[in-house]
Amino acid sequence: MIRSATAADLPHLPAIEVAAGRPFRAVGMDAIADDAPPSVSELAEYQRAGRAWVATGDDDTPIGYALALVLDDSVHVEQVSVDPAHAGQRLGAALIDEIESWAAERSFPWLTLTTFTDVPWNAPYYERLGFRVVPADEMTPGLTAIREREGAHGLDSWPRVTMRRIVGSALPTQPNGRDTD
Ligand SMILES: CC(C)(COP(=O)(O)OP(=O)(O)OC[C@H]1O[C@@H](n2cnc3c(N)ncnc32)[C@H](O)[C@@H]1OP(=O)(O)O)[C@@H](O)C(=O)NCCC(=O)NCCS
Repeated sequence: MIRSATAADLPHLPAIEVAAGRPFRAVGMDAIADDAPPSVSELAEYQRAGRAWVATGDDDTPIGYALALVLDDSVHVEQVSVDPAHAGQRLGAALIDEIESWAAERSFPWLTLTTFTDVPWNAPYYERLGFRVVPADEMTPGLTAIREREGAHGLDSWPRVTMRRIVGSALPTQPNGRDTD
């Protein structure tokens, strides 16, 4: 189930982030695996603003989460993490769709994100979900600032890219409302 995060969910989220980071070791990106997860107080800022969502298991405990922020005229997907023990159930895609619904309700035209170009579950995955690289001349000041901040944090040690998806482009479109999956 996908739902808005509650304050009680927050202590579960750093461990999800650490677990989701582990596969980066297998592709030689140990520094990403070792990156400290966000603190509960950082997460609380998103949760209080209504921009944190969780994917939950049968007992309603979070097994994945996503954070978003408003950036220029778009909604930026700041983080999507799913515990690898629960990977491959489309939870990542569902969390992104939840952010998209939030953006659609507020009439934002784009979802944006930054990600690693060559990591199989990053840019190639987002491309399958309908995201496309933002052309250099369409980078907004907010996106440029995020890329600069990430570069200063060492993330540009590997090829990185900014992507966007038109809000509404991946939502169910069939007249009977059935999801196309
Ligand atoms: C990216 C992530 C959120 C996907 O979560 P998920 O619930 O497994 O996502 P889905 O079930 O919707 O899709 C999984 C996709 O990722 C791919 N994938 C996941 N782990 C993979 C791995 N280790 N190697 C290769 N592909 C992988 C799967 O092949 C699948 O692709 P497809 O179904 O489009 O063919 C999750 O892998 C994750 O938390 N990763 C670590 C954090 C991260 O990189 N976040 C994104 C950048 S901030």
